[in-house]
Amino acid sequence: MRTILVFLVVLCILAATATAFADDAATIYTSDFSKGTDGWYGRGAQVARTADATLMTTGRSSDWNSPGRNFDLVEGGKYELSVEVRQDTVDSAAFMISIAHSAFGAETYENLAHGTAKKGEWTTLKGSYTAGAFDQSVLYVETTGLPSLDFEIRNFTVTAPGGVPEPKPTEPPMVIEAVENLPSLKEIYAGKFDFGSAAPFFAFSQPKLRELMTSQFNILTPENELKPDAVLDVEGSKKRLQETGDETTAEVHFDSAKPLLDFAKENGMKVHGHVLVWHSQTPEAFFHEGYDLSKPLVSRETMLGRLENYIKNIMAYLNENYPGTVVSWDVLNEAIDDGSNWLRKSNWLTVVGEDYPNRAFEIARKYAPEGTLLCYNDYNTAIAGKLRGIVKLLNTLIPDGNIDGYGFQMHHAATFPSIQQIRTAVETVAALGLRLRVSELDVTVGNNSEASFTMQAKYYADVMKILIDHADQFEAVEVWGLTDPMSWRASQFPLLFDGSCNPKPAFFAVADPDSVQ
Ligand code: G3I
Repeated sequence: MRTILVFLVVLCILAATATAFADDAATIYTSDFSKGTDGWYGRGAQVARTADATLMTTGRSSDWNSPGRNFDLVEGGKYELSVEVRQDTVDSAAFMISIAHSAFGAETYENLAHGTAKKGEWTTLKGSYTAGAFDQSVLYVETTGLPSLDFEIRNFTVTAPGGVPEPKPTEPPMVIEAVENLPSLKEIYAGKFDFGSAAPFFAFSQPKLRELMTSQFNILTPENELKPDAVLDVEGSKKRLQETGDETTAEVHFDSAKPLLDFAKENGMKVHGHVLVWHSQTPEAFFHEGYDLSKPLVSRETMLGRLENYIKNIMAYLNENYPGTVVSWDVLNEAIDDGSNWLRKSNWLTVVGEDYPNRAFEIARKYAPEGTLLCYNDYNTAIAGKLRGIVKLLNTLIPDGNIDGYGFQMHHAATFPSIQQIRTAVETVAALGLRLRVSELDVTVGNNSEASFTMQAKYYADVMKILIDHADQFEAVEVWGLTDPMSWRASQFPLLFDGSCNPKPAFFAVADPDSVQ
């Protein structure tokens, strides 16, 4: 008996040691702020180690101003990430782990982990990332809607539980096919619906991307540049409020959106506006008295006044400088929660109340030029519970007569959701009689092999067949980005063109869905 016990104890010790070795082997990096900043630097901010061996970030003025660090991540490697964050200023603050990677001279970003930190509490954010083909990768921790918040991080950890693959040898440069020789999606779908893409501000300084846009698309959506964090002028609003005492002040500026708006105007392209009311990428100060985070939330009346001035000022500027260019708007984005399938918790819900979607559409209708298509936009429409929530919300908006359309985001994977789920969702929303849009189409795959791209092409073709069947109700179909490395999901190759603007099988499938069996 004693021998068996001793044997079991030894076995346990061996097992524990083996696990420890396995974990050690999987750990690529754990931050150590005991002596310095451990390679972390401020991205538009100041970082410093604290006496408690954490890293403090201060002096921020944009959400992306953050602590960041370069990591050597091997293409195809599957990494688990985690970090603890803490802030002492607001009741709760939303944080993300993001990655900034560069390829073909362009820096692009993906958001990898999300979490909300209550005041004074250390909160863990966890996420994962499969590395794509990039020259450089910087992991960083950013806020959403709290551009000036000071915060601390500790225990930033990167592991690769399955090990890391051998780095791939450098591939020969790809053959670049002339963009002008391709079939044109906007011409193919003319008479059915507009065909477009999201584009970030930096695309407009790159001749090849400009050519791609004018030859393929007749409508563009600014990927981030018309969101409240880009448009609301927090400092300007604060200053004006101090001068006038008017708490409903909402000053706006269009510094980031101008390149896209000018390009669209010069080239006779339409623009879809994204987005007026959203829980994310909206400065927290918008909701506070005096635009001051240390002051309480404003009243419902003040908030509705701010929203009215915000929308009025946007419409006035666009009407004056780009008349007729912005043909549609996402008035409201992603209001339905994935768990409860009803209005998600947000500052809008807290400050204004359950009718904030109705009020947003009412104000948008009041100031948008006649004929502007006013939409609600959301993701996961193909998931049954979410679809019920979306339909319920649309049914509260339709009787007011201020909503015109619904935007299906369609951020899909080539394996999920099923084509039948998508068809059911499209048919269900179509039955409400609204105009429809596909606002943010992309389809991820696990790698860039021929087999994956063939599977992706088939999925795109099947989606297009559904949209063509409902062409009389679809106003526009837009992909969410121009080339794979520019995508918010760059490491999963979700778009129609590769980094050299070469068309992928998915492009030809969208151009001619019947050619794909
Ligand atoms: O603009 C700054 C840049 O100046 C700075 O150098 C850089 C440093 O990291 O950050 C840049 O901001 C990034 C921004 O994209 C612009 O590229 C943010 O960090 C990054 O978080 C942000 O991600 C965007 C994401 O929305 C944020 O929620 C993606 O590009 C954008 O594709 C994505 O779009 C959303 C739609 O609006 C709504 N539906 C889902 C879709 C995908 O998440």
